[in-house]
This record gives sequence, C-alpha cells and structure tokens, in this order.
Amino acid sequence: MEKLANMDKLAKFSMRTNACGTLTKQNVGEEVVLCGWVQTRRDHGGLIFLDLRDRSGIAQVVVDPSREIAFETARKVRSEYVLYVTGVVKARPEGAVNPNLPTGEVEVEAQGIKILSKSKTPPFEIDGSPTDESLRLRFRYLDLRRSEMQRNLIMRHEAVKRVRNYLNDNAFIEIETPMLTKSTPEGARDFLVPSRLVPHHFYALPQSPQLFKEVLMVSGFERYYQFARAFRDEDLRADRQPEHTQIDIEMSFVEEEGILEMVEGLIKDVFEVVGVEIETPIRRMEHDEAIAKYGTDKPDLRYGMEIEDISDIVENAGFKVFADTVKSGGVVRGIAAVGCASYSRSQIEELTEHAASQGAKGLAWIAIEQEGNLRSPIAKFFEEDQLEAIIKRLRAKPGDLMLFVADKPKKASTVLGALRIRLAEEIGLIKPGEFKLMWLVNCPLFDWDETEERLTPNHHPFTMPRVEDIPLLDTDPLKVKSYAYDIVINGTEVGGGSIRIHDTELQEKIFGLIGLNMEEAREKFGFLLDAFEYGAPPHGGLAIGLDRLVAILLQKKTIREVIAFPKTQTGSDLMTGAPDTVTDQQLREVHIKLS
Ligand code: AMO
Ligand code: AMP
Repeated sequence: MEKLANMDKLAKFSMRTNACGTLTKQNVGEEVVLCGWVQTRRDHGGLIFLDLRDRSGIAQVVVDPSREIAFETARKVRSEYVLYVTGVVKARPEGAVNPNLPTGEVEVEAQGIKILSKSKTPPFEIDGSPTDESLRLRFRYLDLRRSEMQRNLIMRHEAVKRVRNYLNDNAFIEIETPMLTKSTPEGARDFLVPSRLVPHHFYALPQSPQLFKEVLMVSGFERYYQFARAFRDEDLRADRQPEHTQIDIEMSFVEEEGILEMVEGLIKDVFEVVGVEIETPIRRMEHDEAIAKYGTDKPDLRYGMEIEDISDIVENAGFKVFADTVKSGGVVRGIAAVGCASYSRSQIEELTEHAASQGAKGLAWIAIEQEGNLRSPIAKFFEEDQLEAIIKRLRAKPGDLMLFVADKPKKASTVLGALRIRLAEEIGLIKPGEFKLMWLVNCPLFDWDETEERLTPNHHPFTMPRVEDIPLLDTDPLKVKSYAYDIVINGTEVGGGSIRIHDTELQEKIFGLIGLNMEEAREKFGFLLDAFEYGAPPHGGLAIGLDRLVAILLQKKTIREVIAFPKTQTGSDLMTGAPDTVTDQQLREVHIKLS
C-alpha cells in the first residue's frame, strides 16, 4: 500500500525532509526533519521515546536528557500533540529492533523538538479499536486518523485512480452534470431544494445522472464517465447512504456484450489494488435462474446450498400440505443445510420463525443423521423411493438438514433464499478474502407493484426490451425481458445498467404501460424525448456503486467504513449536526412557511 500511495513524496514541497513511515536502514547517519502526531510517549530510565505518526506510518524518536531543551519539551508532550522534530537516523541497538514496524530497524535521535500544536486528550485511543460507532462519527476527524481508516480511504483513492486510468485509456471522457436539477426516475424519493429566485419552485438533487448522460450521447460524446454523487431519500441500511458515489458510464454504438466486456476489464483492474486476480469473462446468470435457485436477484455464490424443486417427486405423496400445494399450481422446494442435522427443536423453531417473517406458511424439515437415519415430523408420510429421490435432488448427505417450503414458486424460493443466507452465516460457510462475481442478465422489463396494482420499471423506464419480446408488450408485459444487467459480488448488487431505448415511439409505449401519459412524461423529461428527435445513437451504460465496490474490496461490513463523512441510519451527520434547523429569514427568502 505504501508504494501505491507514493509515501516518499510526502516530503516534497514540505517543511520536513522525510515521511515518518519511510525511514529505513538506508537513512542511517542522515540528518532529518520529521513532522507528525505523537502516537505514544514512553519514559524509560531517563530516555523518552516518542512514536511519531504521519500518513506514511510511524517513526520512533529517542530523546536523551543531555539534549536539555529537547528533553524538557518531550516531557511536556502528550498523545496527539503535533511536533516538528530534527535529529539523526540511527540503527536501533540489537534487541530493540521491532520487526512489526516497517521502520523498526531505525530510530531518530532527537536534536530539537518543537510543539506545532497541542491536543486535548482524545475520547478514544487512536491506535485502539473503538467499538462505539456514534462516538467515532461524532469525532470523525480523530477516527480518520486511525490506521484502518487511513488505509480504507487511501485504497478507495487507489481504486478511483485505476478506474479513471482504465476509462481514459479507452477513450472515455469525464463530464460533470448538474446537482441542482429535476427529478430523475430511479425509484427513490427526491431530496428537494427550494428556489429563491423562482418562488414555490424546487430543484431535485439527482438520483443519478441518467438523463444527462443520455443527452450527452445525443450530443455526440460517445463515451462518458463521471464519479457522480447520487442522492436518494430512502430507508438506510448497511449498504445504503442518502448520498452515494457512482462510477457512472455511458457508451454509444454499443450492444450489451460490449458493455459487459468493458466493465469486466474495469473490475479486473480495480481488484488488482488488493492483489486479487479476477477471472474474465465473469459468469452470467439469467434473472429467472437466480430467483429460482437462490431466491434473490443478487445471489451469493461463495457457497452452494442451491434451492431445488421437488414438486414432481411429492405431488402424489401422502403429505397433504405438499401434494395439495402442487395440485393447486404451487411448488415444493428445498435446500440441504450442510451439517445441520443435529439442530435442536428450538434451533429449527428459529429457522421456522425466520421463514415465517419472509411470508412462509410453514417450514417442513427432514434431518439425515450421521448413521443415515431420518429424524423428521413428516418423513413418515413419504415412500422410501420418494425420500431417496428427495435426498438425491438436494444432494443431501448424512449430517445435513433438509428444509422445505410449499408455496407459489417465487415465494418458495424467496423464503429458502433468505434461509440460505442466514444458514451460510450461522454455519460459517463464508471464507474471508473470497470474491465471487456474476452478471445478472436477461432481467424482466417490468415488476408488478402489488399495492398500486400497476407495472413498474424493473430498472428504469429508459431500458430497452429484448427485440424478440417486443410483441409481448401488448399481450403479456410481465414476460418481457430486457437488456438490463447487474454486476453482483458476494451477494451485493454492485452495479447495474442497461441498453436504452433510443426510439421515441417505443419510449412512449413503455411510458403508457407504466401508467405515465405523454403529457406527464413530457413534463418530467421532455428535454430527453425532444433530444431523441434529433438523431439519437443506440446507447447504453451502467453505474457502479463506488462505496459498495470499495467496501467489498476491503471486506468491510458497511459502506460507512469507506466513506469519509457518512451519515447514520437516520440520515444524520453526527459531526456537523446536519440536518439542522434554519432561521426564519432563510425560510422567508425561499418562500417557505413551516407547518
Ligand atoms: P442503480 O439505481 O442500480 O442504477 O444504481 C447504481 C448503483 O449504485 C449503487 N447504489 C447505492 N449505493 C449506496 N447507497 C445507495 N443508496 C445506493 N443506491 C444505489 C448500487 C447500484 O448498483 N442510472 C442507473 C444506472 C444506469 O442505468 O446506467 C442507476 O442509477 O451499487
Ligand atoms: P400442519 O399439517 O399444518 O401441522 O403442518 C405439518 C408440518 O408441515 C409442519 O412442520 C409445518 O411447519 C409444515 N408446513 C405447513 N405448511 C407448509 C408449507 N407451506 N411449506 C412447508 N412446510 C409447511
């Protein structure tokens, strides 16, 4: 990492001669000037040892009482004071070498010490590992001093550099698009900004640069990218922030294949930052297969336990719940939980509750004990050959616990998919440092919104339906597949995009199907429809969530660990205190009265 970030260059243009973390035996005998923060101070039989830290690492400074002035200063120094130290680099005496520190073979014998800045006692130790996240966020300036956070942000920067280089090398150009704009249809709520100059009107912060990047294609730029901030007022989770950064990309004269290939090269380059080689082409999986086999559109392929359908085996079985479900058009599906045969009743009860929370009507189970005996409340309802066929279908082994859900196909898979994720964690099937990537392709063009009882775009309304499915738009729109794709890493959707519609007529038809009349569409994004009337090239692209990509790269549990100033689950910034109230005067200026 040090090499990647050019740490030795920290001394260039600077008041110091060397960066702390770069000193080695080769510097022995040199007179140096170091600057940095005091990590620790130790008094040792007359000598004072200071660990001086800057971004590059730590150097040990030794102060001898014979250097009276420096010694007096060193005695006053406390943790996190900022110092200017002059001295000579010495090899550490035998036995004092610290093999855990890159600079562990040397130390700096101080000649002079100047205190550049004092520090209060920090609320947590900078080299410790604080657990209270709200304290970390409130004192983010101190939290960011910790080596782990320094590494996270430096690695993020390295990833960004790789992406820029890759895209620049492939004839993309970086173009900025506005932050004060109109609503972009990405499916979340907008953040609004009132206008002072146009009373009672509002800007929306962009949910993505989608419309602008398509306009740029009409304008003939052909290949665009931007590290774009996107704002979405949605419920927050570990991998969601109200503002996030997208690597936003669009290309003209391209088909799906070309985009996937381009992204694969980019991802390969980015993973090199952590020394991981990604094999390309990346595996592709049809949306329907993902839902059926993994119960999710973002399968985690780091472990097996795929969902299998056993409807054909059980449709005439003596177990009525199963037989009746299949006869009424439902399915019975199951997974084999590896090594869980010894789960107790209460453990199985917990799994059942988890299944119920996902909407399951029940959870049936058969444990295959080590000797091959079956333990189960339902096994007695099946013939010997049916049981054998089920075990074979689930590839279950002695020691496994088979779990079954009888329901409509999608529900059965969703419930089992949720159990699969929970079990993988419970059993410990996830090895740290493993990355499994896949493309989700052939996604449906529409979803069905149960509450509003209408079609909604699965990606966004500008996504191109697959040519062969266009006739289905009139007859069975939910069956229409699209040229939309997601890149999924370890069960997280890291990026997504599509080939776009560039034909006004087809676009109008799609608007109609999602219940948007042309007047409303014109009102919302008339400028894009107008632009398309002046020679729109076929185009497509995607956006990769930079925060998510880096969090996965560095194996962090939340994206907050790779964002300098993130917000809490309630969208607050604990350091600045945003969101905050404003004065009456400010409100009057933007023509707003609070209720
Ligand atoms: P989409 O909505 O899929 O596509 O967003 C692209 C990627 O951005 C990331 N992402 C988020 N990351 C953190 N917090 C959030 N709240 C959040 N929301 C999304 C995800 C996601 O895959 N305009 C289209 C792209 C296109 O079609 O070109 C778009 O925004 O990693
Ligand atoms: P019951 O006949 O309702 O007492 O159910 C017998 C067993 O079947 C119980 O273990 C239930 O949890 C299970 N069960 C009931 N409904 C379903 C279902 N839809 N899918 C899977 N298992 C079920």
